[in-house]
Amino acid sequence: MEVFDTPDGLRAWSRAHRAAGRRVGLVPTMGALHDGHLALVDRAREDADVVALSIFVNPLQFNRSDDFTSYPRPLDDDLALCRARRVDAVYAPLAATMYPDGFQTRVVPGALAEVLEGAQRPGHFEGVTTVVAKLFHAAEPDVAVFGQKDFQQLAIIRRMVADLDMGVTIVPMPIVREADGLAMSSRNRRLSAAQRAAAACVPRSLDAVAAAYDAGVRDVATLVAAGRRVVDAEPLARFEHLEIVDGATLRGDPTAGPGCVAVTAVWFGDVRLIDNRLL
Ligand code: PAJ
Repeated sequence: MEVFDTPDGLRAWSRAHRAAGRRVGLVPTMGALHDGHLALVDRAREDADVVALSIFVNPLQFNRSDDFTSYPRPLDDDLALCRARRVDAVYAPLAATMYPDGFQTRVVPGALAEVLEGAQRPGHFEGVTTVVAKLFHAAEPDVAVFGQKDFQQLAIIRRMVADLDMGVTIVPMPIVREADGLAMSSRNRRLSAAQRAAAACVPRSLDAVAAAYDAGVRDVATLVAAGRRVVDAEPLARFEHLEIVDGATLRGDPTAGPGCVAVTAVWFGDVRLIDNRLL
């Protein structure tokens, strides 16, 4: 496995493989790797001959400095996991390499970034589109894999690739969950044991929404109330939002239509967890 810390190093690696007729896959991450990330690696290998994984805790997409500083960075463990998963190249640049003095150009997303997470975390998605554009320019991948866990991020990146003619095939990966249903996340390791046990209420609340939807309920206020009740019953959980939106436009409507998605964020202490469920 090769490890690069400059865009030129990664690009030379990628171009050599492409010149030899191999397809290059990219899995962008912020590290603290778990089985959800590693499933993206396996998925990338289905569509590519060589797979690069990037590890970069992107300061541009954090709107809270405490969240950025407390974000886990177990680089040696991550490299060992990548080796074991037969990742071909890891790209782990320093922040000063990604954003040297004088850096000022950004990729500005549109309406898809104004709702849901974008409304809660100002500037977050502009940070994501900017760093992903940089990663695409450094890796020049044929395909890149993104998780449906970050459902809005996936929609925004697809839009960016289409709007800016990036020519990268974006492959979605279903959410990988723990045995109790909690979506795997690097932030889960910041939960206390009691909070971790309580966090199972997040997928259960989406189950409650899905059960109501499957029973024929289409009134969004009723669906949201069914999900919220589950979170409110858990003393360690602090409900932030639960919305039902159109899967393509991410816009809400008083009545849930086909292809809609339930999207939620819940706090446990100072840890914010997100999850979603296609209805
Ligand atoms: P990060 O949160 O590390 O996630 C990296 C990728 O793994 C994303 O595509 C995310 O959706 C996916 N992922 C995380 N948990 C998952 C799970 N339980 N099941 C399936 N996929 C999962 O998302 C980011 O980093 C950053 O915003 C990034 C795109 C790297 C830009 O900085």
